[in-house]
This record gives sequence, structure tokens and C-alpha cells, in this order.
Amino acid sequence: MDFYEVVKKRRSYRAYKPDMPEKEKIERILDAARLAPTWANMQGIRYIISQDPEKVKEIWRAVGQKTKFTEAPMFITGVVAESGSGTNVNGLKYFTVDFGICFEHLILAATEEGLATCWIGYFNEEKVKEILEIPKKYRVIGLTPLGYPIKEKGEINDRRPLEKIVHWEKF
Ligand SMILES: Cc1cc2nc3c(=O)[nH]c(=O)nc-3n(C[C@H](O)[C@H](O)[C@H](O)COP(=O)(O)O)c2cc1C
Repeated sequence: MDFYEVVKKRRSYRAYKPDMPEKEKIERILDAARLAPTWANMQGIRYIISQDPEKVKEIWRAVGQKTKFTEAPMFITGVVAESGSGTNVNGLKYFTVDFGICFEHLILAATEEGLATCWIGYFNEEKVKEILEIPKKYRVIGLTPLGYPIKEKGEINDRRPLEKIVHWEKF
């Protein structure tokens, strides 16, 4: 797909078919995340793949959202340690920025592969860490189901227009 087509096609999906995505596709998606830029090329993000149906169920429980998520066949959970990126730069810690860039690469690559995702930022971090045996120093920043959508959505049409968000030369 053309890059701008992928950008327009990416949507958050909350209902998935049970079919497991093909391993080659999963690997290509992860490789897109691997190639993303990070602070001083520190590459601190780690990805945990969950396909064991029991684990997948446990993760759904740890997400515990009221939204009508239909169970997807698998999850990708992204983690990063605070020390895995720039710390205290103008009072900012960059590990969540690195994470966002890598995870969006992953999500756009999934779109290119015809797969559905939904970035999940609301979940019980302690529970997810316990389920996936994630070492203490890592933070779980986001996770996504991965699978085929039950029904494809249309293009994005609910964003603010450019003139509302862009300031040329000064704010
Ligand atoms: C950082 C982040 C966290 C999000 N967390 C959740 C979440 O916990 N649950 C959920 O259903 N959607 C979540 N979303 C999806 C957004 O609600 C969604 O991207 C937004 O409504 C725009 O819709 P679209 O992705 O279909 O274009 C999250 C998105 C981002 C970028």
C-alpha cells in the first residue's frame, strides 16, 4: 500500500476473528518496530508475544475494559525501562516517546499486512507484569491485540482540520 493509504486505513479495532495471524506477518510487523528511531539509538523497547489462549484470556482480564472487545487470538505487549532512553532532558523522560514511535511503526505495519490492532493504554500494569513475568525495572506502556478484523472500518473522518492544529511561523 502507499504510505498515506496505510495512514488513512489504520483504525482501532475492538472486534477480532479468532484466526491467528501468520508468523511471517508477525515477524515483519515486529521488524518494522525494530527499525524505528529511538533516543541516541538506545533501542530500549521489548515486545512480548502472547498466543497461548490461557495467557491471552488473562491479559484480557487485566485490561478489563467495558468496551466491547471481542477476544483476539493474540496480544503484543510493549515494555521499556526508564533507563532505556534519554532521562531528564528538559525535565522530560523520553522512554514513553521512544515507545510511542516504535509501537506506531508496529501498528502501521500491521495495517499494511491487513491486520487489525487497538493501542491499549488503560490496563492493570501490575497484573500484566505478573502474567508475563516482566522484570521489575520495565514499565508496560501499551499493548495491542493482533488479528483480523470482524468488519473493516472506513477511513478516518473525525480529526480536527489542519487549520485548527498548525501554526505557521508563530503560535
Ligand atoms: C496512547 C493510546 C492509548 C489508547 N488506549 C486505549 C484503550 O485503553 N482502550 C481503547 O479502547 N482504545 C484506546 N486507544 C485508541 C483510541 O481511542 C483511538 O486511537 C482513537 O479513538 C482514534 O480512533 P482510531 O484509532 O480508530 O482512529 C488508545 C490510543 C492511544 C494512542
